[in-house]
Amino acid sequence: MEGTVDFHVRQIISAIGGISFCVTEFLRVTNQLQPARAFKKICPELLQHSRTNSQTPVHLQLLGNNIPLIARHASKAVALLGAEVIDLNFGCPAKTVNRHKGGAVLLQTPDDVHRIVSASAQALADTHGRLTAKMRLGYEDKSLVFENLAAIEDGGASELTVHARTKIEGYKPPAHWEWLARIREKARIPIIANGEVWSIEDYHRCREVSGCQDVMIGRGLLADPYLAYRIRHDINEKPTEADLAAVILLYLWQIEQNHCPEKYLISRGKQWLAMMKKQDPRMDTLFNQAKTCIKAEPMLELIESTARGDRLFASRLPADFNQRLSN
Ligand SMILES: Cc1cc2nc3c(=O)[nH]c(=O)nc-3n(C[C@H](O)[C@H](O)[C@H](O)COP(=O)(O)O)c2cc1C
Repeated sequence: MEGTVDFHVRQIISAIGGISFCVTEFLRVTNQLQPARAFKKICPELLQHSRTNSQTPVHLQLLGNNIPLIARHASKAVALLGAEVIDLNFGCPAKTVNRHKGGAVLLQTPDDVHRIVSASAQALADTHGRLTAKMRLGYEDKSLVFENLAAIEDGGASELTVHARTKIEGYKPPAHWEWLARIREKARIPIIANGEVWSIEDYHRCREVSGCQDVMIGRGLLADPYLAYRIRHDINEKPTEADLAAVILLYLWQIEQNHCPEKYLISRGKQWLAMMKKQDPRMDTLFNQAKTCIKAEPMLELIESTARGDRLFASRLPADFNQRLSN
């Protein structure tokens, strides 16, 4: 997820557990072939066999509409840089992206979707790489959903994640899981359900309504980074405030160690707290205190002091982090 799920977030969430794979933020393909460093910036896991430290596979996502160039990016990522799975983005609703004919806007022209997928699949034909795609139900409406499914399948993608909303529905609930069932019934490739899974109950209902085996979780996993682990092990207890604050603290300590600018650290801390408090009112106080911070140090102290509280899931975070927190 662009601007939120970077390398460090993937490390932390995959170490907590329960996840089969992660997808990078998108690498935007514009009008020239990006250098290797641009791929590695989006996906530092390329330097470690496209795996997080806990060995969770990481798929590299590409976004754009330049057919030969997307295909060249896919083959460069796989053949030269060792990516294993390339995911094509047909879901991004951002105005700038759509104005440049990338992301969800392409769902209005399934022929373009087909050309992009099939050129990329051909570029990967003689490699070990696999191609997947992500789409929404449509742009303005759902009228082309099956055309887009066919475009992606016939183009040669091996798996499709569907965010169960159109572009104009943005992120507004509900997600139309019943549409996922219709798509899955027609599809020859596995369909991964996506949209509005915030809890264990949502996960089970989403699977039940959609009939999909697999579910992709976005914001729900940022709001509760233990959610996939809790789903996998059927643990109903919710993380405490301290559990949640500890994840943010671990993240901020990691990016601080990587010499990130203070402003960036502060905004990432506030951003993540905001995502957590939306789902969990217990995080209101910490968010309200942290949002007034204009320096990193007081913000880190606030988060640390909450993280020192009782934690149910301390064992899911790295031992050296727990050690530092207890000192
Ligand atoms: C801030 C933000 C950034 C996102 N960036 C991406 C992205 O780079 N690639 C992508 O496929 N989806 C992206 N998405 C969409 C999510 O992957 C997901 O499809 C959507 O949020 C619905 O799932 P959820 O309800 O589980 O969050 C983004 C969503 C948000 C809120």
